[in-house]
Amino acid sequence: MARRALELPLAADRDGAEPLTAQIAGQLRDAMADGRLATGERLPSTRTLAGLLGVSRTVVTAAYAQLFAEGWVEGRHGSGTFVAEGAPGRPAEPGEPEPVLPPRAARGTRDGLPELDGTSMIDLRPGIVWTEGIDRAAWRRAWRSAGTGVTGDLPDPRGRADLRAALTGYLRRSRGVHCSADQIVVTRGVAGSLGLLASLLRPGDQVGVEEPGYPAARAVFAAHGLRVVPCPVDSGGLRVDALPEGLRLVYATPAHQYPLGARLSVPRRRALTAWARDSGALIAEDDYDGEFRYDVAPLPALFGMDPEVVVYLGTTTKILTPALRVGWLATSPGLAARLAAAGSMLGDWASGPAQGALLSMIATGALERHIRRMRHDYARRRAAMTAAFRGGDAGRLLGDEAGMHMILETRQPAAEVAAAAAERGVAVATLDQKRPGPGLRRRRARRRGPWLRDPRRAPDQPLISPRQGSFVVAGANAHTRMWSLA
Ligand SMILES: Cc1ncc(COP(=O)(O)O)c(C=O)c1O
Repeated sequence: MARRALELPLAADRDGAEPLTAQIAGQLRDAMADGRLATGERLPSTRTLAGLLGVSRTVVTAAYAQLFAEGWVEGRHGSGTFVAEGAPGRPAEPGEPEPVLPPRAARGTRDGLPELDGTSMIDLRPGIVWTEGIDRAAWRRAWRSAGTGVTGDLPDPRGRADLRAALTGYLRRSRGVHCSADQIVVTRGVAGSLGLLASLLRPGDQVGVEEPGYPAARAVFAAHGLRVVPCPVDSGGLRVDALPEGLRLVYATPAHQYPLGARLSVPRRRALTAWARDSGALIAEDDYDGEFRYDVAPLPALFGMDPEVVVYLGTTTKILTPALRVGWLATSPGLAARLAAAGSMLGDWASGPAQGALLSMIATGALERHIRRMRHDYARRRAAMTAAFRGGDAGRLLGDEAGMHMILETRQPAAEVAAAAAERGVAVATLDQKRPGPGLRRRRARRRGPWLRDPRRAPDQPLISPRQGSFVVAGANAHTRMWSLA
């Protein structure tokens, strides 16, 4: 039973200095901090509380949303809003150590998304991982086991041998990647792997990156002095038939094109590996969220088609937390040795204790249990998102079969839709925020005009079509639960 709202000392003062939402959120926060509202207790519905306080329901919903974002309350599907387990500020039980979990969400701006302005309460921007879902006990055990020995030895530049062996099993089970431990290099995530690959190329070499695509990939290549060539993408993923000539490497996301969300079809996969063979280029396969797929049969990683030309890149960023900074690559043994040697020379390897913690999570089965739970959880969030848009006028949803974000192709300009969402307290990204900045586009256009043009289209037809301006990117992530708040 929800506590009757009148039993709580709540008041809304229209003439007060603070906005009504802040007043209500503040009073509820105090009640939870001092135990007047206990863990698991149900809050009154927004309608009831609004009626009792004489304020609009939007004000109460916004107050609940704020508390949700801060981790004080949680929404249970269809049954209301409850005081969250271990809400912040609640004193820990004696003898119970604080969980060593990283903060709730990765809010870095590495991929070029703007900072929230503080007024958005439901953060649906892509790239935010639901770290609250990590089993704290398993996480603590992993770090305890990683921290038992103190050593001053530098880790093996290829990564710990036991971790590489454990990864071969994990990759086989989860992604159909068959390789041996000497084909794996443990890295600092996809960005680290791309950095190692880039370090083997010469400044000025041309590397292809899907367009629209992952800004960090562009940034890493550009930082190594490589020439980043945009490669067109359509609703089927990378347009293999339109790959420019002269590329030494192409970066691609076949499992779930970032950000448009397509899965690369089998014929395009075949064409891509054949293209790499013919042109002598390598393919960097970024399998950043390949573990998450819904309602569709899994397509194994591209790597399995031709391990000689594909370098497979995996990461803990989406399956665990972006704070860990551990990932891996799989390639031929020869290239793996060269990449590890480059990492060693550059002092670029994943932290030993972090590798140990990951090893423990794989060896105990905790990682795969976590992924199974999260797959289920993200599927529910995704269902909430698709239900919210179904039959609506907002536009067409794309890329919702896999991964942790989806795209809304809007009828109105994306910026307008995003601004309207922000006004209602919902933060989403637009595709424009994922493109190279105008400075880079201008520089490129000056240097090589045709880069921004699709050679197979009419010469004056830009590669980036104006229609692509009307995409909104939303993560089926941490705050999607908000859709089901009472
Ligand atoms: C397309 C893509 N690749 C890779 C990553 C993860 O990169 P890293 O392992 O460097 O954290 C992300 C994270 O958001 C991503 O969106």
